[in-house]
Amino acid sequence: MMQDEQKRAVAQAAIQYVPAGCIVGVGTGSTANYFIDELARIKHKIEGAVASSEATAQRLREHGIEVVDLNGVDSLPVYVDGADEITEHLHMIKGGGGALTREKIVAAVARKFICVADQGKLVGVLGKFPLPVEVVPMAQSYVARELTRLGGQPALRRGFTTDNGNIILDVCDLQILNPVELETTLNQITGVVTNGLFARRGADVLLLGADNGIRTIVV
Ligand code: 5RP
Repeated sequence: MMQDEQKRAVAQAAIQYVPAGCIVGVGTGSTANYFIDELARIKHKIEGAVASSEATAQRLREHGIEVVDLNGVDSLPVYVDGADEITEHLHMIKGGGGALTREKIVAAVARKFICVADQGKLVGVLGKFPLPVEVVPMAQSYVARELTRLGGQPALRRGFTTDNGNIILDVCDLQILNPVELETTLNQITGVVTNGLFARRGADVLLLGADNGIRTIVV
């Protein structure tokens, strides 16, 4: 299967994890968009969806799916989202689309995180994909110096503002041998809203597209 076919196939497969009558957490990006298209087919069976970005909220509404405020939701059985990189331990780098903070919030609330990805996303060690870090604008220079001190090469994502009104620094060259520890360390830099390591709360299930079908990895 080509990359886009893999994305569509894993999005279709993720539907089986959506319980009838529930509110679904929905991620951001091209694979999540395929999932939204699939969700539209069963929209009469769900109550609504919590969106991880304005772009996702708009696409959900365009498909006639009700978008629900996370603050009005007691429980979220499942969250479905893509990743920029993922390991066999289901630790991820996310935020290529800049939605990392809202994605991390929805993932924190959800009981089950289903990651949907094409096979190119599976890596042995995280870090080839530059790590996105969402930063309050006035802290840009300070946070960039701190990230450099930690061995990274931060670059401002030009012309981009997050849904929360912040900037993104994309960080190359970080040694991500212990993603749980690095996630915590980076989040302790004052001015960082959050970083794109999803290791403390990784995925629970990975649906990985492959040439010959779908591989399911569960932790
Ligand atoms: C957006 C994300 C996406 O999940 C990630 O960038 C993967 O996107 P795609 O499915 O388009 O490859 O984290 O912030």
